[in-house]
Amino acid sequence: MTNKPRYAEASMEAMYRIFTVPEAPGSTLGNIDQKLSQNLAGFLQEHIVAVEKDLEELQKDFSDSEIPEKPIFVSDQADFLMDKLVAQSVHTASPSFIGHMTSALPYFMLPLSRIMMALNQNLVKIETSKAFTPMERQVLGMIHRLIYDKNDGFYDKWMHEPGYSLGSFCSGGTIANITALWVARNCRFDKDLKNGFRGIQRAGLYGALQHYGYKGAAILVSERGHYSLGKAADVLGIGRDSLISIKADARNKIDLQELRTRIDELKADNVAIIGMVGVAGTSETGSVDPLDEMADIAEEIGCHFHVDAAWGGPTLFSKKYAHILKGIERADSVTIDAHKQMYVPMGAGMVVFKDPSLVSSIEHHADYIIRKGSRDLGAYTLEGSRPGIAMLLHSGLKIIGRSGYEILIEQGIEKAHAFASMINAETDFELVSEPELNILTYRYVPAFVKQKLATATPAQVDEIHEVLNRLTKRIQKNQRARGKSFVSRTTLTPEAWDRRRTIVFRVVLANPLTSLEILQDVLAEQKHIASTSACTECMDELHGLCDDRPMHAHAV
Ligand SMILES: Cc1ncc(COP(=O)(O)O)c(C=O)c1O
Repeated sequence: MTNKPRYAEASMEAMYRIFTVPEAPGSTLGNIDQKLSQNLAGFLQEHIVAVEKDLEELQKDFSDSEIPEKPIFVSDQADFLMDKLVAQSVHTASPSFIGHMTSALPYFMLPLSRIMMALNQNLVKIETSKAFTPMERQVLGMIHRLIYDKNDGFYDKWMHEPGYSLGSFCSGGTIANITALWVARNCRFDKDLKNGFRGIQRAGLYGALQHYGYKGAAILVSERGHYSLGKAADVLGIGRDSLISIKADARNKIDLQELRTRIDELKADNVAIIGMVGVAGTSETGSVDPLDEMADIAEEIGCHFHVDAAWGGPTLFSKKYAHILKGIERADSVTIDAHKQMYVPMGAGMVVFKDPSLVSSIEHHADYIIRKGSRDLGAYTLEGSRPGIAMLLHSGLKIIGRSGYEILIEQGIEKAHAFASMINAETDFELVSEPELNILTYRYVPAFVKQKLATATPAQVDEIHEVLNRLTKRIQKNQRARGKSFVSRTTLTPEAWDRRRTIVFRVVLANPLTSLEILQDVLAEQKHIASTSACTECMDELHGLCDDRPMHAHAV
């Protein structure tokens, strides 16, 4: 229990102290520091309470909007954080936390991240980052090479070249996608000085459409595209309705026929196609679009081809599975998140550009800071001040190495396949999306329901689906509340069920410590939850809909 905090008097001397005098080793802060350094896993196990507390309840500890007038002791604040924040946070490193893309970190990230914090470099310009700038440029070069595999000469020439950049490091996939489409938009409506047009950067979208004689502008992506693309369409001024959502096929990949049809319609409507986005690892099902075929189409119509490989990009580390991403090397730009499958702490994303001069379309300068002709990376980023987190990717790439990442990627994909087989072998579960990478979806469908579904009329299937949706939601919420394991849930429209709204469990297998036994336990727990009172209502309804016998025959 946190004691009442002790207040100090604010004074210049006290202010000096917080900048210069570290906490004593025996203080709360000193103890946290020591425990974290000695045994990160133990610390997490010991301090994170897995049992869910109501958010309304938690809110009470964070309800005061007044800034404290007087300073409190550092150790008292550390006590508060341990009790109210750490103890009620989510154990994302747990091997049975398999619902999201946020996973465990290799232990070396923690001590190395302290270097980053302590130096507090700002990558916006060399004057505040010095060696961090060439280091970040090298990391962008390494990721560029992973995707585009150019020769040594190319990287010797472009990696550190003032006025150019192989990409843009940022806080995550969202900013990376926005940056890529910003470049696509600006290149599409480039300056045309001969005819008095100074480019969309200056004239804005309205001016650009008027100058080039278009009615509107659009971006195309499959319905499985990440929601950050909607944000991009919004901030780029084309509007969310102009992010054209293309139907996905039975394997959750963009339907190429529909893509072509929509392109023809847009052309007929005099709408400029700014870009086309292929997804390499959809957030919900981990599916990869047919990138090669999409690159052909983009080439044919002359538009920017962007690949959102925020999740699936690191598959390229695997010699065995890299082929799934075939065609990515033809993309004009690629998003890849280091804080996902490269096991770097949150806040590390990238977009890389095939052509190092593309970034000139979004280049910005300011006299006091990012000067023309400098190597400052801030000239090509949407964000201004940025931390030196590329340092942690640099470390991951070196300490884990290509072959280490290869092992991590392959074990994830193979575990997902093993889990899919496990689900298929169960009579009471239904695999909804086969894993292509390391994400899969499924739901609990008891054998008697499966039997009924096989012969049910469409109206009956509708009714049963509706109850199954509620049941999936119940099981997922209950499993989360029990705190032993966690899977997420989403809604899909599978072809196999005539595109009916289907709520599914979603599993992401990126933590190397997740074992097959844990996965077996996850299924066993879900089966158990289905048999508890939390699910009685849904189960009774299912019996009512599926059994020929009257419902009361099942009462126990
Ligand atoms: C395919 C895809 N793109 C983009 C993003 C956005 O990334 P971030 O959350 O790092 O902004 C995600 C995040 O899950 C994603 O899965």
